[in-house]
Parts: sequence; C-alpha cells; structure tokens
Amino acid sequence: MTGVAEPTPPATAAGPISAPAAAPPRATPPPVEPVLRVEHLSVSYHTDAGRVRAVDNVSFDLPPGVRMGLVGESGSGKTTVANALMRLIKPPGRIDGGRIVVDGVETLPLSNEQMRQVRMRKIALIPQGAMSALNPVMRVRDQILDGLLIHEPRTPRRELERRVENVLVAVELDPRVARRYPHELSGGMKQRVCIAIAVAMRPQVIIADEPTSALDVVVQRQVMETIGRLQRDLHSSIVLIGHDMGLMAQFVDRLAVMYAGRLVEVGPIREIFREPLHPYTQLLISSLPVLGKRGVFRGIPGVPPSLLAVPPGCVFHPRCPQVMAQCPQQIPPLVQVAPNRWVACHLHEAAL
Ligand SMILES: Nc1ncnc2c1ncn2[C@@H]1O[C@H](COP(=O)(O)OP(=O)(O)OP(=O)(O)O)[C@@H](O)[C@H]1O
Ligand code: SF4
Ligand SMILES: [Mg+2]
Repeated sequence: MTGVAEPTPPATAAGPISAPAAAPPRATPPPVEPVLRVEHLSVSYHTDAGRVRAVDNVSFDLPPGVRMGLVGESGSGKTTVANALMRLIKPPGRIDGGRIVVDGVETLPLSNEQMRQVRMRKIALIPQGAMSALNPVMRVRDQILDGLLIHEPRTPRRELERRVENVLVAVELDPRVARRYPHELSGGMKQRVCIAIAVAMRPQVIIADEPTSALDVVVQRQVMETIGRLQRDLHSSIVLIGHDMGLMAQFVDRLAVMYAGRLVEVGPIREIFREPLHPYTQLLISSLPVLGKRGVFRGIPGVPPSLLAVPPGCVFHPRCPQVMAQCPQQIPPLVQVAPNRWVACHLHEAAL
C-alpha cells in the first residue's frame, strides 16, 4: 500500500492566454509526508495451542494533523497494533515483520534506548484501561514527572514541576490535582491524568486506545472534547481506537476498519458512512441505532473467528452476506479503489 495520505490537489486548470504576465507561476505543492507510516506490520503471540497471528500485514499512513479511527470487534487486533506502534509488544508477543516510520524515524531497528527517546516525544499512547493502571500510592505529580525525568534528567526539578502543572491545566484539571492520589479523583479526572501523562512531551502522534470506554456518556463527551482540543493545539495526529462507530463519526477524519487482524477498509469517514464498500463495514454501520427508529437492534450475525483457526481466503467469508465462490479460496488484498479509499474484498477488485 502506497499510503492513505490526502492526494495532492489537482493542478489548477490553465488560465486564459491573456492572463497578466506579472502573475507568479504556481508551484505544485509538495506532497505531505505522513507523520506515521506503517507497512506490512505483522504481530503474533505464542500460545499453548500454537502461534497466532493477531496483526496480519497491516499498512496505513497518517498525515500530520489527521484524526484516524481504528475500529473492529473485540479481539480484532487494535491494541496489538497500538502496542506495536509504541514497540511495547512483550513476550509471548512478537513483531514478525513490517516497517514503522514515525516522523521520519524507522523505529523497529532502533535500540531500546533510542526507542525510549521516540516514545512520548514523537509518539505517545493512552493505553486501554490506563485509569486502573495509575499507581495508587503515588501522587499525580510524581506519575507525570516519571515520564518527564526519563527524557530530561538534567532539567531542574522545579522546572519539570512547573511543566506538570501546565499539562494538568492543558487537560482541564486544577493544577492542585498534582498533590492528590488517584483514589481522590473521579473517573473522568483519572482519565485526564492519563492523557496528561501521554501528552506531557508534546508528541506528534497520539494513540488513544478506547480512552472513554469506562466513563459515562456525559464525561465521555467532555474527555473527547479535551482530546480534540489538545490534538489541535499540539498540531498532532491521532489514532483513536474503539468500537463505537457513532463516536468515530463525530471525532475522526478517516477510518480504518479491522477484522481478525487485517485491515479491510480505509477511507474518509464521511465517504465510508455514505457508501461503505466492505460488507463488514456495511454491517457495522447498519447495526448503529437510528434516532427515532424503534425496533430490534440488528447485530452482525456470527462471531469473529478464533485466531487459532482463521478461515482460509477472506477471513470474513463465513459471516459475509455477499460471499462468492472465490472468497474462501483467495485472500483479498487491501487495494486502492478510489482516491483515498482502500478495501480488501473481491467484490471491489473490478474497480481497479
Ligand atoms: N498476551 C497475549 N497472549 C496471547 N494472545 C494475545 C495476547 N494479547 C492479545 N492476544 C490475542 O490477540 C488478539 C488481538 O488482541 P487485541 O487485544 O489486540 O484485540 P483488540 O482489538 O484490542 O480487542 P478489544 O476490543 O477487546 O480491546 C486476540 O485474539 C487476543 O486474544
Ligand atoms: S471477499 Fe467475499 S467474503 Fe470477503 S467480504 Fe468480500 S464478498 Fe465477502
Ligand atoms: Mg484493545
């Protein structure tokens, strides 16, 4: 996959021949380099029953300032992608192959120390379930300071403490929260502390793994507004991981849909909602409740496959309402079918 960066705008049509000679020639704007490029990423876990491929040949690009959603059912590999981007896959997991480039730096060949410098500065993660992972016996200040000290051990402590207060204000918390312990905070406040830890070094790429799943709807909305404002202020890009297509529709610019470790569709969120191409994406969207339409919710029939017994060919074929004879035989590659749109489905190969 060559990437999902926005296309270079078409050159403006030539003006009339009599256009003023003084008009400066128009240069074609250079293509925007992605801030994150993922190529053919594969990750597996060793289990008692054998090795399972949790992320299979995943490729995508993320241009600067873009918000990308990564959706898929539970177990589809979203968190594994996030951990691989941070190079935080630990045994029994293993990155089997691929390339990850963050702001021009290829990360998989880096030493552990070099990667430590990339984390938080260039790419940061708000991990799934981060709130419950806060250290209960450490004050908020010290938990944020921990990350800063790794990167700037020589900066005077007073200066770092001032930065802790600034980042708390940036996530819309009172700076006095620095003195509190996690048990003294509400769920929304704890999640804001986790966001503060992630953005303290002003990363260019923020990965937020289900950042609001443990919060009630009102707090969810407020926290998403804070993440959106931070992303704009820092001119960062975001990978927002989740299941909630409604939240994605409100928050992201583009969407990547994952199924059983593979990307099945990538494209601008509006276009995907207007015309989802992959049958799985179509089912995800049609299972969304519609305001004012009462009735039985339509879920997606069947269950995702066990990674120990991945169906041959298209992994989605046992659940696909449009399955064809060739689907169990051949894996459909993720191919570009329109500017900025990619899909992995035999139905769309004719569009090439
Ligand atoms: N440490 C591990 N050991 C073995 N298998 C694992 C491990 N971590 C994840 N897996 C498997 O890898 C697959 C992908 O898991 P992952 O956590 O990435 O999914 P996810 O899309 O983030 O799911 P969720 O929406 O539930 O968070 C799952 O089948 C999971 O069982
Ligand atoms: S490749 Fe076949 S089984 Fe897979 S999503 Fe497309 S039509 Fe369905
Ligand atoms: Mg997950």
